[in-house]
Amino acid sequence: MAVMPHASNHISQTGYRLISIEETPDGGIGGLLQVKQSNKIYGPDIPLLQLHVKHETQDRLRVHITDAEKQRWEVPYNLLPREQAPALKQTIGSSRKNLTTVREYSGSELIFSYIADPFSFSVKRKSNGQTLFNSSSDGSDSFGVMVFKDQYLEISTQLPNDASLYGLGENTQPHGIKLFPGDPYTLYTTDISAINLNADLYGSHPVYMDLRNVKGQAYAHAVLLLNSNGMDIFYRGTSLTYKIIGGVFDLYFFSGPSPLAVDDQYTSLIGRPAAMPYWAFGFHQCRWGYHNLSVVEDVVENYKKAQIPLDVIWNDDDHMDGHKDFTLNPNNYPRPKLLAFLEKIHSIGMKYIVIIDPGIGVNSSYGVYQRGIVNDVFIKYQGEPYLAQVWPGAVNFPDFLNPKTVEWWGDEIRRFHELVPVDGLWIDMNEASNFCSGLCKIPKDKQCPSGTGPGWVCCLDCKNITETRWDDPPYKINASGLQVPIGYKTIATSAVHYNGVLEYDAHSIYGFSQAIATHKALQDVEGKRPFILSRSTYVGSGKYVAHWTGDNQGTWEDLKYSISTMINFGIFGVPMVGSDICGFYPAPTEELCNRWIEVGAFYPFSRDHANYYSPRQELYQWDSVAQSARNALGMRYKILPYLYTLNYEAHTTGAPIARPLFFSFPDYSECYGLSTQFLLGSSLMISPVLEQGKSQVKALFPPGSWYSMFNMTQIFTSSGGQYVNLDAPLHVVNVHLYQNSILPMQQGGLISKEARMTPFTLVVTFPAGASDGRAAGKLFLDDDELQEMKLASGSATYVNIYATVSQGTVKLWSEVQESKFALDKGWKIGKVTVLGLGGSGAPSSLEVEGEPVTGASNIKLSSLEQKYMTNSEVGDEKKRSM
Ligand code: NOJ
Repeated sequence: MAVMPHASNHISQTGYRLISIEETPDGGIGGLLQVKQSNKIYGPDIPLLQLHVKHETQDRLRVHITDAEKQRWEVPYNLLPREQAPALKQTIGSSRKNLTTVREYSGSELIFSYIADPFSFSVKRKSNGQTLFNSSSDGSDSFGVMVFKDQYLEISTQLPNDASLYGLGENTQPHGIKLFPGDPYTLYTTDISAINLNADLYGSHPVYMDLRNVKGQAYAHAVLLLNSNGMDIFYRGTSLTYKIIGGVFDLYFFSGPSPLAVDDQYTSLIGRPAAMPYWAFGFHQCRWGYHNLSVVEDVVENYKKAQIPLDVIWNDDDHMDGHKDFTLNPNNYPRPKLLAFLEKIHSIGMKYIVIIDPGIGVNSSYGVYQRGIVNDVFIKYQGEPYLAQVWPGAVNFPDFLNPKTVEWWGDEIRRFHELVPVDGLWIDMNEASNFCSGLCKIPKDKQCPSGTGPGWVCCLDCKNITETRWDDPPYKINASGLQVPIGYKTIATSAVHYNGVLEYDAHSIYGFSQAIATHKALQDVEGKRPFILSRSTYVGSGKYVAHWTGDNQGTWEDLKYSISTMINFGIFGVPMVGSDICGFYPAPTEELCNRWIEVGAFYPFSRDHANYYSPRQELYQWDSVAQSARNALGMRYKILPYLYTLNYEAHTTGAPIARPLFFSFPDYSECYGLSTQFLLGSSLMISPVLEQGKSQVKALFPPGSWYSMFNMTQIFTSSGGQYVNLDAPLHVVNVHLYQNSILPMQQGGLISKEARMTPFTLVVTFPAGASDGRAAGKLFLDDDELQEMKLASGSATYVNIYATVSQGTVKLWSEVQESKFALDKGWKIGKVTVLGLGGSGAPSSLEVEGEPVTGASNIKLSSLEQKYMTNSEVGDEKKRSM
């Protein structure tokens, strides 16, 4: 574990005093904070600060603190739309009422209160009196009062020792999803591989969810520090300290109290997750090193031969000419052949995605570069485009904060799309990754190689930049887990973006700004819902992109870590997430790849991807893996309607697709740290084997009844929760459905376009053995070619489905919220499976939409098709029976 610098005690002697507090015209309160005793550690203190506090919604409180006299860097309001904190002093002067004596400012659930000298504040929950955040010093030396300097900000909160914290990423967490006291959490977007534990990785998400169990009842809230500068966060169990190297304190508190409510409130601020097209939930195959088109064609063919589902085939940079974005290698990927291939796969509903990197090759005969120069789109250093090196050799980086760059990028994507009708884009290396550091020149005497191998090594003539306070800030965050300089292998932090913005401040939003530009471009070009996969993410990225967890290893540890990272990204509002199945490098063992596809088949984003130097690892390469893939992906393709409905829920409420168990069982503290199992939606639990040589898995079953999806006669029921040793031979993954659910399934298939036309099965689960019970489920369907995913779009169908069982009668009915999507293409509900009926076995009678159905004992109800799925009828069907 990396050694982290400890909070310095002398800093805790300073702090601020509140000298005024008043109402602000926007209904909040504002005040001035004056430094008490200035010191020079990490630079001079900012003498006067402005505090602005506002209950922005019933469940969201914002505390914003900045320099009262000078504008400071904040996450741009045009990238992440939100209320503007009112302009400084003038507002305070013009306020209506002096509230100097007020110490509390109350919203509907959260209460803000302060102590004036030294200034500290706390946030309490009204309903149970708990203190959620308390910035006052705890009297010990472990942390001090608030510090605000130009390049160093510090604030802490005390925490009760039974709080369970989640979030603060991107970070590979060896201890699982629950934050571990003493582990370092450094946030600064960095291209170091995901195998680096507890280090700052590709994304920055300074948000945590705090789950507390008060006498058996759970309360969750979240705290976002909306700040894009590099930071170290020290979590010690009973306190948490932020040490940030710039920006402002912009703290948002989300009151929950359920984990789902927290994500709803969080994504209502940062942006709802992007709607994903239906096919994106199919299986994806990628690899770096598909040297020519024939190899790609073979891969597609082999998947078909092996009868393993495949929806999307990807190219890493192998299709490019000299690793340059938006080009085709004329020998290996000749355009006419590629177009013929695409026509063929498109005709069966398959899709094609390629990579692009932000680094644009410096090459005077390269059109993309030439037009970039003409339009002046690149990040600058001393007035010239900043020179870096990535795969094409020397590159310049587009500045996506510049509106002109966004336009140019859109035009390049449009041109490329005319060349190759890709179905989505993969934006990689956007932390941004640079093979060199500092200020570089193209060497006079040698050619800079492009590509893999030697392409890795810095070929430019570079010198370190240490003379500016941006390149060498007074406080060193634990960059790359090694306290390297913050400009190490990225853009020099004194480089300049549009409007004079420093890379120092904007570094961690680079990938985010690229995502926004790419999303707009694809929307404009395709007129469809874009699919974009991005390596680097920031708060709000989920509105535009999916994410994969970067370069992992083909090891059992990395298989395990993929679960924690995935479910953390759900909390971050980036629900479309997965890891490279079977590992990026080096070669996985056959057994590991078996187990990995059994987990990966249930990642929201399910893609096998491997490194250039790894041997081939498509799922058909081993017979045993192919068999596991057919089993696990076979199930995935059957539950696609459920996954797609979760996609809609994520898009409209921020609910993660893959979730920790505590999302459904927040009061059940046994599952709080559980990182070896996860849920899809609220009720489908995956309990995979994550260890070598095991054919059993010990799984936690929260209280209630659970039904195996592969063997519906297997039931686990307990009133208090239980651990069960499940059989899990090599080809078996355990997937269980919780009681009270109605899961919409279809028959599966080798491609999602096919699978989605097959008859539906509804699996209805009641508590095992109970004579009375109820169940509910949802189904959302639309045309995934549409940009919008919403009701009232004129082409969506959304149905709540309910069931009850009482005295031997099962009743099933729907409440239609919308029924405009053309379902007259022959969709049927072919079968209803009811699980958990009382001791008597089959129900004595069954009613569907209020009408008795005969032949209930075998529960195959072809008559349902008319009731549910006929377009014209669905709209009129209302709840008819209780
Ligand atoms: C780094 C990415 O993480 C990896 O997935 C990709 O294969 C390589 N870049 C090459 O493009």
